[in-house]
Amino acid sequence: MERTLVLLKPDAVQRGLVGRIIARFEAKGLHLSGLELRSFPTELIERHYEVHRERPFYGNLVAFMTAGPAVAMVLEGVDAIAVVRRLVGATNAREAAPGTIRGDFGMSFSNNLVHASDSPESAASELALFFPDPEQRAEWSPVSEPWVYNVAEELS
Ligand code: CMP
Repeated sequence: MERTLVLLKPDAVQRGLVGRIIARFEAKGLHLSGLELRSFPTELIERHYEVHRERPFYGNLVAFMTAGPAVAMVLEGVDAIAVVRRLVGATNAREAAPGTIRGDFGMSFSNNLVHASDSPESAASELALFFPDPEQRAEWSPVSEPWVYNVAEELS
């Protein structure tokens, strides 16, 4: 099992899309092991997007991400990082493929609804940033797991 960090950005919250987006991840077979809605502090968002600090869009990005509450979640599954990135779609929502979350719900490069970790290294550091306390998460295995995966081939 792999873990990845997903943020539902303030546009997803304001547009009332939180439930529909989470439902897509759950329907795919990923399971939640952490979930929190809050207004994240500017310093945390700045650290999260540290790699973009020198980019021209950095100021707008931090302002947008702190303009209202957002949702942080931990999703788990086999190859969860790559699976989630494919479900989310291309960064520019106008160009994201139909069937992806951004492709179906978004029209913007900046207001693109979702952030998802892009590698095992970024997942590890982003999970540590948003879910530093093990008590923020629940360790559990869905009863559906042996039906979502072939246990002998994929979970051994
Ligand atoms: P995200 O996956 O959260 O990672 C960085 C974010 O910066 C990206 O989604 C976009 O919302 C935002 N962004 C805005 N402009 C750009 C740009 N020109 N290139 C990349 N990311 C951008």
